[in-house]
Order: sequence, then structure tokens, then C-alpha cells
Amino acid sequence: MNKDLIDIRELSREEIDELVDVAEDIMLHPEKYAEKCKGRKLATLFYEPSTRTRLSFESAMYELGGSVIGFSDAGSSSAAKGESVADTARTVECFADIIAMRHPKEGAPYVAANSVSIPVINAGDGGHNHPTQTLTDLLTIHKEKGRFEDLVIGCCGDLKFGRTVHSLIAAMSRYDNVKFVLISPEELKVPENVKTDILEKNGVDFVETKSLEGAMPNLDILYMTRVQRERFFNEADYVRLKDTYILTPKKLQNAKYDLSILHPLPRVNEISVDVDKDPRASYFRQVRNGKYIRMALMMKLMGVD
Ligand code: NCD
Repeated sequence: MNKDLIDIRELSREEIDELVDVAEDIMLHPEKYAEKCKGRKLATLFYEPSTRTRLSFESAMYELGGSVIGFSDAGSSSAAKGESVADTARTVECFADIIAMRHPKEGAPYVAANSVSIPVINAGDGGHNHPTQTLTDLLTIHKEKGRFEDLVIGCCGDLKFGRTVHSLIAAMSRYDNVKFVLISPEELKVPENVKTDILEKNGVDFVETKSLEGAMPNLDILYMTRVQRERFFNEADYVRLKDTYILTPKKLQNAKYDLSILHPLPRVNEISVDVDKDPRASYFRQVRNGKYIRMALMMKLMGVD
């Protein structure tokens, strides 16, 4: 196992299975884990907005008996004075045992990881990757479907800038008989490198389509995403594309009875609130899972038994 977690592919399938097992055990027996990280400190360095990722990391460390320092606004850190990511990481290493970093620049957590000897976890880097969201998604898939194999996964929305989709595709492409239906407008299709370096390289079956309704009947998992406004070059394009897909109860009429609807959240308009009461809506259960898998991950990276 690497010192850090920057890209989900750094974890083997066996390591993912182990993290999922530990997370499920924590859910059943939280008291066993209440002091596992006593005396240890997590630093959350968030240069971009976050609700779930940062708060789940922080709750995870508190529930392991540890403590938390950090910032949630780059403007309140020395980044505003021009400090480099490497220097900030080296400073934080003097105070903390593990770092979770979110940054708008792709590769920033990798730079931090190479500058310090403590573990660094990528909590989202630009439009690139978001491995701990993927661990959250994997735990959710495991709990909801009971398997990682034999699944048709529809990813819908902003597949170009959506980092969670890139990491999910990378992780799920390693399992047997997984098929992807990539549902997006032309402008927001999955980047070419995700297709060539991940899907085609692994011989994964995938189709690209614009039609959510057309794809719906075949899906075991529907992974909805928000159009990533902050990564657009102009507001007019965002406004034109933002409401391309809105999932409603009507659109679910042809879906499988055991479909799981996932969304990394935050939701803007892409899932109508009327869908929330459908038992297939898994996205708030998904949020809860995020804390447990991050507990398992931090223990593993810090070598806690
Ligand atoms: C996602 C992210 O930050 O990439 N959110 C999250 O971490 N749960 C998805 C998004 O912001 O759309």
C-alpha cells in the first residue's frame, strides 16, 4: 500500500475489499474503534468549497478518538500570501499525522504528498480525481447491490469535469462484467484519456448516449452528477447545459425495481426532490457511508491495527 491515496487505482481490489470490510465492521461495532486514533491529528486543507467531504473526514477522525486542525477557505491560509502547496504541506507536517487536501489544481495533492512523510489523501483535485468519494461509492454499491461484478452503471450529467465519475470509472473498470452507459450532452462527454487509458485499455464495454430515458431500463446503478459550474470557461455555456438532465419519478417508471440511484452531492437541479422518497434513492445513505470508509482509510494509511 502506498503512503498516500492520490488516485483510486493505487488501491488493489484486495485493499478495497479490506477497507469495505472494516467500514462495515465499524458500522456494526463503532465502540471497538472509538480510541483507535487517540492522540492522532488530521489536517484538512481545503482550498475549494466542501460540505460532505470535509465534514465526513473530520467526523471520521473524531469518532476514532483523534482530533482535527485545518482550514476550509484558502483565503484564510498563507496561500493568500503566495505560499506554495509544498511549503504549506511541510508546515502542516509539523503539527499533524495525516493530511486530507482538496485543491482546484489537478495534481496539487500529489505535490503535497511528495513534500512530506505523513500520508496525504486527495480529497478532490480540480476536474481530475476524487478517490475517497469513489470509496464511498464502492461501499454504497456493496451495501446496496451486494456485489461489484455484473453491473450496468449509468453515469449521467457532467462527465467531462466531474472528477467523481473519472475515479468511479477507474475503480469499477477492474471488476468482471461491468458495463458503462455514459449519458451526457456532446460538450460534457467523458474525456478521451478516460476512454483510452481506462475503458478501452481494460476492455470494458461502454456506450455513449444523450438519452437518459433510453438508457434507464438497463441500469443497475444510476450515478447522477451536477454540472460543474466552477470549471466552465463561460457562464453562458453553463446556463445552457445545467438542466440537461432532471431525474423525476416519471423518468424512473421504466427503471429496474432494484436500481440504485447514487449522486456524490451537492445536488442542484438534476434530481427532483420528489425522487428522494423513492426507496431506490441511495444518495443520502451514500453520504453516511462516506464517514465509515474514511475511518477505515485513515486507520489503514496510518498503520493503525
Ligand atoms: C463532489 C466533488 O467535490 O467533486 N462532491 C463531493 O465531494 N461529494 C461532486 C460535486 O461537487 O459535484
